[in-house]
Amino acid sequence: MGFCIRKAQKVDVPAIIREWEWLQRESRAYSPALQLKPNFKTIYRKYLAKRLKARNALVLVATKKDRVVGHAVANLMGVFAVFVIDKEAYVEELFVERPYRRKGIGTKLLAAVQAWAKRKGVRQLSIMTNTENTRARGVYTNFRMKEFLVKLIKRV
Ligand SMILES: CC(C)(COP(=O)(O)OP(=O)(O)OC[C@H]1O[C@@H](n2cnc3c(N)ncnc32)[C@H](O)[C@@H]1OP(=O)(O)O)[C@@H](O)C(=O)NCCC(=O)NCCS
Repeated sequence: MGFCIRKAQKVDVPAIIREWEWLQRESRAYSPALQLKPNFKTIYRKYLAKRLKARNALVLVATKKDRVVGHAVANLMGVFAVFVIDKEAYVEELFVERPYRRKGIGTKLLAAVQAWAKRKGVRQLSIMTNTENTRARGVYTNFRMKEFLVKLIKRV
């Protein structure tokens, strides 16, 4: 295997941005709602810098021989306060570069986010994916996550 999972540092930012662009390219195949604005890179850079600094967020990279081959971004979020479970760790991004897929890296990234959430006292993990992304859905259900919401969209 020979890959390692660690917290991302500033030096990893270009690799994460590169992977994010690949992730967007793959995701756009599922929905025209994911077309990017011309200044998307500036917006994404700011978002990532914020997540790297925040105490309630986690940015992880998977590396092989010091090269970034995957990453995850997670954020602790409030759920409506009426619910007993009123916080969750939401995985905003999960990506593994094509040649490194099906080696357990995606699952390891999820497990690392889960461990972090537990350390923070947060007992619920969530992630969203496209209904057609059967590969990702399989990884999440294998990780014993349960599908329970469907988002519906319409251009008006
Ligand atoms: C979804 C994604 C993150 C999964 O990452 P991954 O590293 O391939 O995931 P894993 O290796 O943990 O699991 C994938 C499969 O490999 C299998 N696997 C895990 N370790 C393995 C190993 N050592 N040898 C062979 N197969 C293995 C898993 O059982 C799983 O099998 P399945 O697809 O038949 O269910 C990756 O495919 C990806 O980045 N996709 C594009 C972006 C995307 O869709 N992201 C999610 C958006 S929410």
